[in-house]
Amino acid sequence: MLHFSLPRTLGAAFAAATLLLAACSSEKQADAPPVASDERMVAPILTTEDAKDVHSYARPEIARVTHVALDLVTDFDAKRIGGTATLDIQAAEGAREIVLDTKGLDVRSVTNGQGQMLPWKLGAADENLGAPLTVQLNGAKQIRVTYRSAPDAAALQWLAPEQTSGKKYPFLFSQGQAILNRTWIPTQDSPGIRQTWEARIVVPAPLKAVMSAQNLMPEGEEVEGGRAFHFKMDKPVAPYLIALAVGDIAFQSLGPRTGVYAEPSMLKAAANELVDTEKMVEAAERLYGPYQWGRYDMIVLPPAFPFGGMENPRLTFLTPTILAGDKSLVSLIAHELAHSWSGNLVTNATWADFWLNEGVTTYIESRIMEEVYGRERAAQLIELGWEELEAAIREAGVDSPSTRLHLDLADRDPDEGMSSIAYDKGAAFLRTIDRAVGRQRFDQWLRGYFDRHAFQPITSALFLADLRQHLIQGDEALEERLRLDEWVYEPGLPGNAVVVRSESFRAVDQAAQGFALGSPAASLAFPKWNYAERVRFLNALPRELPTERLTALDTAFGLSKSTNSEVLFAWLQLAIANRYQPAVPALERFLTTQGRRKFVAPLFESLVAQGEWGRPIATRIYAKARPAYHSVTTGTVDQILSEESGDEAAEAGAAN
Ligand code: BES
Ligand code: ZN
Repeated sequence: MLHFSLPRTLGAAFAAATLLLAACSSEKQADAPPVASDERMVAPILTTEDAKDVHSYARPEIARVTHVALDLVTDFDAKRIGGTATLDIQAAEGAREIVLDTKGLDVRSVTNGQGQMLPWKLGAADENLGAPLTVQLNGAKQIRVTYRSAPDAAALQWLAPEQTSGKKYPFLFSQGQAILNRTWIPTQDSPGIRQTWEARIVVPAPLKAVMSAQNLMPEGEEVEGGRAFHFKMDKPVAPYLIALAVGDIAFQSLGPRTGVYAEPSMLKAAANELVDTEKMVEAAERLYGPYQWGRYDMIVLPPAFPFGGMENPRLTFLTPTILAGDKSLVSLIAHELAHSWSGNLVTNATWADFWLNEGVTTYIESRIMEEVYGRERAAQLIELGWEELEAAIREAGVDSPSTRLHLDLADRDPDEGMSSIAYDKGAAFLRTIDRAVGRQRFDQWLRGYFDRHAFQPITSALFLADLRQHLIQGDEALEERLRLDEWVYEPGLPGNAVVVRSESFRAVDQAAQGFALGSPAASLAFPKWNYAERVRFLNALPRELPTERLTALDTAFGLSKSTNSEVLFAWLQLAIANRYQPAVPALERFLTTQGRRKFVAPLFESLVAQGEWGRPIATRIYAKARPAYHSVTTGTVDQILSEESGDEAAEAGAAN
């Protein structure tokens, strides 16, 4: 066994690497001396019951993937990506096979490292999980899978030139979280099984490829059939964080460690919007210790990208809908950057503990915002989140299990766990502890938590154990006051939740009340408000307003023409609630020019809720918009449109 020295914070992470098969407690992992089993960093896995991933076929306790080497060619005509995945494997003594996750992959062959055929079998496919690929190891320490993805691979979106901003070249991007990467990479697709990785990607000239890893040759090299790009990620990451984008991509530096990629026609706007990124990295480091990933770059993708942002290591993927022109929506960057600690460094072991990624990140997001833009702006965002949390709990019901932080996702698509509960209840939990113990002490604990669990998976139980061991330290009064288990395992919102209020919102709420009672639009301070105040105002208005009041608002403030996607979204929600026909063209434009699920799905939901007025509009617009959406978005909207709305259900009931 080879020993080598690791940076202090990494030491603990790799300590348990050799304990692969031992049922190791968190204490053991935290305190064992640094050991590495070979030259590559091998991260530990958890073997407790609560760390068992119901969304993966992998059985890492028998054999696990430690490194993935991809050698792939993109075929834009066939919408396939194909080639080989060479996997390094650590197997338990006597282990005969390894199980990988796949979905829709066309597997040609599996060999060992020397090219000798190995027996393999694809099991029955589950609609959500895909099919297990079981390979007989015959002693192999490395296996090579030759395969190609299906044209409808859920992770991949192949965009025609018309769907890009340049309109000249096609574009491809991947979205791995939560369990989509198995549609283009045959590996163990579980967030608790970290892997280092490398890739060689051949794309047609003159396109470029970028990935969530070190870019070894940014200009690529000429090869037969196009250009080859090379990438390397030498820190072990959860496999959902492997990401690829291919297109007409240019780069602009923003700071020593930061920069942005985008299509050439978007690059200037992107760079202007994101100028504060380096400051954010510095702020985050002051709070939580060194940024561990080298560079922090971003790529602004075409508008079909289904999320606001995705925290792919070293290369955050972004929707262009955050380019408001005035930097007003950059809290999303703070959020994705925060994942460099919560999510990418310390990763939920299973999707049942998704809140450990998103809730901790949402808390850090507002800390970064406070550092860079001050307390009031951070407070506004917290209060907007609070508003969403209250709505989510109201909608689900305070007793609903879906309002717990720790979720039971057995037999469910992990996507279903992705609500504002994980984000905003999770953040409220951390804020409550922060307030109870004092910020200095809490910061010290959180920073230590990242150090102790760096490059390791985490569960709710381990999180609470760490809190108790390193923060509460036997203080019974504090333990009682915090109500930790209630926060994590019970539905609803514990009574000790700290509520943060923005001062400026009080005036906004008053203005909304005044307007609802009939005061003129011209008397509103709307033009002076920032985006958060505008959104707050629109959300605070009663859902029923006379048509002329809506017209007065739209005329005075050009809401239907708003270039701020969040303001436009809030306005369109209000308009739909009122069946306000004049806003329908703006609604149609918004739904057909971007595919971000957070905007698209609720708008379709609201339309459907408007029964005989809204459903025909929804159906008509969706027919036009759907071909341009990513599978993540169509998956949700298909479901919304296939369900009966409340109205319709009532009508059907009355008819019976
Ligand atoms: N990691 C998430 C996106 C995600 C969640 C992808 C679940 C797949 C499954 C990302 O960090 C995120 O939360 N994005 C938000 C923005 C954020 C500011 C709330 C989004 O996309 O809107
Ligand atoms: Zn997030």
